[in-house]
Amino acid sequence: MNILVTGGAGYIGSVVVEETLRAGHKTVVYDNLVKGHREMVAEDAVFVEGDLLDRDKLEGVFGEHSIDAVIHMAAYSLVGESVAEPSKYYQNNVVASLSLLDAMRARGVAKLVFSSTAAVYGEPEKQPIEESDRTAPTNPYGDTKLAFEHALRAYDNAYGMKYVSLRYFNAAGASERCGEIHDPETHLVPIVLQAAAGMRDAVEIYGDDYPTRDGTCVRDYIHVIDLARAHVMALDLLDKRSAIFNLGCGGDGYTVKEVIDVARDVTGREIPVRVAARRPGDPAVLIASSDKIGEMLGWKPEFQDLRLIIESAWSWMQRSSAGKSA
Ligand SMILES: NC(=O)c1ccc[n+]([C@@H]2O[C@H](COP(=O)([O-])OP(=O)(O)OC[C@H]3O[C@@H](n4cnc5c(N)ncnc54)[C@H](O)[C@@H]3O)[C@@H](O)[C@H]2O)c1
Repeated sequence: MNILVTGGAGYIGSVVVEETLRAGHKTVVYDNLVKGHREMVAEDAVFVEGDLLDRDKLEGVFGEHSIDAVIHMAAYSLVGESVAEPSKYYQNNVVASLSLLDAMRARGVAKLVFSSTAAVYGEPEKQPIEESDRTAPTNPYGDTKLAFEHALRAYDNAYGMKYVSLRYFNAAGASERCGEIHDPETHLVPIVLQAAAGMRDAVEIYGDDYPTRDGTCVRDYIHVIDLARAHVMALDLLDKRSAIFNLGCGGDGYTVKEVIDVARDVTGREIPVRVAARRPGDPAVLIASSDKIGEMLGWKPEFQDLRLIIESAWSWMQRSSAGKSA
């Protein structure tokens, strides 16, 4: 197939592009580089610098490259920023994303895989979280992702546009070439490794009095390569139907302290920690049930062991400019 990947110069997008290419799909990356990195885009992909709101450019790309399906990853994704600046989030994650859908309609492209998030669930009612559980986001970031899922359902009903929405839990780890760089960085694994590398003085633990096995929050970490492979599998489903899937590793998840301990072990470095107050809206435990995608698509994580995830991230950091002093 000919695939357009929006946000393909970002952290997860750049690994998704490696996997679509590996699967033999011609891949076009569409990214405005507001957060992305041109050098992370695989050489065999076509790169187009452009914004989702530039409808003419998008339609031109659909025509020029005979695009069959879109993997839509371009978005803003900082929870705190979405609370402070909801307008920015609604503009990009809803308005600009609708511009993409309408460009697809205009060009007869009717297949889309969407990067959704565990944030659509808000405070979960039970663990592990299943796709049929209540969605009640607790911040504008989650609201915008859920709003777009609703648009997808309506576009499928009315126009027959098929979609797979992948609700990611915490992506982490690296491929050979591509790893995690966000500015600012808010994700635990790179923050812990930056502390190991001496690039920050300590890791802040937001609350150590949660009702969990060591008092710190439990999260579900998924290796970015496992995540990326799910997108390639999802493309095949689009011939038949639309679906929503969780993407995480399940099991017992890992506490913040467990992540730090594994990182100390992998890096052999000191990682100083500082316990800070809980952050509002941080649930004690967030674990995905990924049974549905396993049953329907045969997806299975290959790298679910946290040690493998952290080893890949540390090794990438040491090789890349993101971790110059690592
Ligand atoms: N990182 C995670 O753990 C995680 C978890 C859940 C969901 N997600 C979702 O996955 C997707 C990718 O996340 P990431 O961590 O790789 O983020 P990222 O910021 O590294 O990548 C996003 C990319 O989208 C591009 N972009 C943003 N707005 C654009 C626009 N209007 N036009 C063109 N390009 C635009 C950016 O330049 C960037 O390259 C996002 O949609 C995010 O909400 C990520």
